[in-house]
Amino acid sequence: MTVTVLGGTGMLGREVTAVLRERGLDVRSYGSAQVDITDEQDCGRAADHTDLVVNAAAFTKVDDAEAHEAEAFVVNAVGPGLLARACAQRGTRLVHVSTDYVFDGTATRPYAETAPMRPRSAYGRTKAAGEWAVRAELPSAYVVRTAWLYGPGGGSFAATVLRMAGERETLAVVDDQRGQPTTTRDVARFVADLVEADAPPGTYLATSEGETTWFGFAQALFEAAGLDPERVRPSDTASFPRPAPRPAYSVLGHDRSVAAGLRLLPHWREALTETLSDLVGRTA
Ligand SMILES: NC(=O)c1ccc[n+]([C@@H]2O[C@H](COP(=O)([O-])OP(=O)(O)OC[C@H]3O[C@@H](n4cnc5c(N)ncnc54)[C@H](OP(=O)(O)O)[C@@H]3O)[C@@H](O)[C@H]2O)c1
Repeated sequence: MTVTVLGGTGMLGREVTAVLRERGLDVRSYGSAQVDITDEQDCGRAADHTDLVVNAAAFTKVDDAEAHEAEAFVVNAVGPGLLARACAQRGTRLVHVSTDYVFDGTATRPYAETAPMRPRSAYGRTKAAGEWAVRAELPSAYVVRTAWLYGPGGGSFAATVLRMAGERETLAVVDDQRGQPTTTRDVARFVADLVEADAPPGTYLATSEGETTWFGFAQALFEAAGLDPERVRPSDTASFPRPAPRPAYSVLGHDRSVAAGLRLLPHWREALTETLSDLVGRTA
């Protein structure tokens, strides 16, 4: 099988490229310099002569999107629509990556795949629009939402915490936002499994098992790195005003993955142990 990965220079796209190659697939992987998903011709070329496109390309600067929503919309909504249309015209399968920011973050139980989207940020609105554009152009596409991503070589909360651990004695971290820290490698494996299993089309939620807060995750990062977790202090969202609102609750359920017989992602603590040496290596 031949696969084209877009956003292949990004934190997730790099791991998707690596995992699909490890599975023996013939993978072409492109950054925005090679394939601009906002360009119709580029989308056509990307969808040509390939069995599957994985779209990990996005405007991901959540705070910048508040002041530049139109720019984010072109990349996160118009681009995926063009790409899905190009795939539909050529009979190419598509996996489109989305985010927990499409939800309002006010739930108290894990969001289901079918929960209504109700984004509260500009980034979330543009990603929600991208999902609809993909579904409208190519109903057989997979939409894979993930959240709280980290992995080697990317700018992430985990990388920032480990860097700051070397710079500060104590670290204040919000304890009132809940989610599931998820590694790029586990999402990449999920995407590979989904495609290999030829699972039913539709929306899947690809996050780790278990849940915690950013404070809990930071303490676990300290512990795993052999540092004193007491150096991490609990704080709250109000103490860290940001342009874009953060979802208070971003825990996602996995019922559709279970129904499709897919392997669930591991518990976030298990994944952290597997990934830590890579993270420390890259941030040292
Ligand atoms: N990071 C998270 O915590 C998180 C959480 C939930 C969901 N997600 C989703 O996961 C996906 C990947 O995120 P990430 O964290 O890997 O992002 P990232 O590291 O910021 O990478 C973004 C990628 O998108 C590419 N890109 C940007 N504009 C493009 C354009 N016009 N045409 C083609 N490519 C373009 C970039 O290419 P160049 O670098 O070559 O310009 C880069 O490869 C996104 O859909 C994001 O919404 C991420």
